Amino acid sequence: MNNSNLTVAETADGSKTIYNAAVGEFYHSRHGALQESKHVFVKSGLEYLLQKDPSDSVAILEVGFGTGLNFLLSADFCNERRITLDYTGIEGYPLSPEMLQDTGYDAFVEPATWQAFIGVYPQATLSAQSMGDYCRLHIDHTLLNDFTSTKTFDLVYFDAFAAIHQPEMWTDASLERCTRNLRQGGVFVTYAITGNLKRSMKGLGFSIEKAPGAPGKREMLRAIKL
Ligand SMILES: C[S@@+](CC[C@H](N)C(=O)[O-])C[C@H]1O[C@@H](n2cnc3c(N)ncnc32)[C@H](O)[C@@H]1O
Repeated sequence: MNNSNLTVAETADGSKTIYNAAVGEFYHSRHGALQESKHVFVKSGLEYLLQKDPSDSVAILEVGFGTGLNFLLSADFCNERRITLDYTGIEGYPLSPEMLQDTGYDAFVEPATWQAFIGVYPQATLSAQSMGDYCRLHIDHTLLNDFTSTKTFDLVYFDAFAAIHQPEMWTDASLERCTRNLRQGGVFVTYAITGNLKRSMKGLGFSIEKAPGAPGKREMLRAIKL
């Protein structure tokens, strides 16, 4: 967990993010980390999926776990509704516990969720950990291109750095790797939408939708596995 290239930065909604100087990119939208996470992943992904296919359990795969903001908001959402959440985050470069504390994200989630998260991190980077009655978290410390799993997922949160900074994350091979265990009818969401991404997802057997984007972005991509 060498985080020497990383610094904490403020975003427009008052929530913080992290800047990676080696990549030249922020972990979240400068227009608002919290707004982006709530809009793209929780509302347009998790809430959409559960409206489409109501269930008392959901398995989520996230590409680029980072600070865990998407996880924390999803855990609160599921806890409130007594939905069992099985969450797997792929992360090549896990953050130090100190860096997580510096995000200030404890202000945006239930105290019990934050305490449980800090309590299981970084053990969760080694194996799946239980967090209360409804939630399990595994942060798979691996590069996306080495990721394998025997699980079936209902939802993929694709939160890689932008293609201009990290094009290798957006190739057909990378997208195939993180969606191969997504069930039929499962949902893939990401904050971006490009012609290449739409073509790739169609080629991988998805129907695609343009959804309204988070503040600062007109549109985002949601794709459903056929
Ligand atoms: C845009 S940030 C993710 C932000 C994160 N979802 C959050 O809420 O903090 C991209 C993440 O992908 C991770 N990453 C970069 N290259 C990777 C790779 N090849 N495999 C897995 N993770 C990678 C970075 O370390 C970073 O945490």
